[in-house]
Amino acid sequence: MSRNQKILLAVVALLLIIQFIPMQKIYEEVNDKDIMSSMNVPSEVGEILKKACYDCHSNQTVYPWYTNIQPLGFWINGHIKEGKKHLNFSNWSSYDAEKQAHKLEEVCEEIEEGHMPLKSYTWLHEGTRLTSEQVELICNWTKAVVGGE
Ligand code: HEC
Repeated sequence: MSRNQKILLAVVALLLIIQFIPMQKIYEEVNDKDIMSSMNVPSEVGEILKKACYDCHSNQTVYPWYTNIQPLGFWINGHIKEGKKHLNFSNWSSYDAEKQAHKLEEVCEEIEEGHMPLKSYTWLHEGTRLTSEQVELICNWTKAVVGGE
């Protein structure tokens, strides 16, 4: 076997082995700590958040089939874990009032700047890239809740 063949074989073996490393998937039923249950979220806003944000910012993540292919799944799960660490709509009522207000301000900032949803996500999930109308709708709501500009 040539050196290149050995390297190729090692890479293939490694790819095979990592398929067996378990990946933690979290799914919980919606409960009353959710922002949708604990706050009066207008239905148009709620629909956008559920469609474009809940996969990484709630405990109702839908894991597409390709998350079973490693290392792709680990990379995606990294976004999900990191996203929930910063903001988890499923734990909304456990945030104090100050934190809630701050998170709502950040929601508007992140979508106005086009940082959220993550680009890689919008490529794989059709219709999740927010339009300027959707951004305005959400920001009008967060500003109305938080008060002032
Ligand atoms: C593919 C996963 C993913 C999706 C979908 C997603 N986010 Fe995020 N979000 C992240 C990650 C990862 C971070 C943390 C790192 C960063 O800020 O880039 C984050 C950070 C944030 C933060 C910053 C919170 C803080 O405390 O700093 C806000 C606000 C946010 N996201 C809002 C949203 C909103 C609103 C949507 C939907 C319109 C959304 N995200 C969709 C992954 C995601």
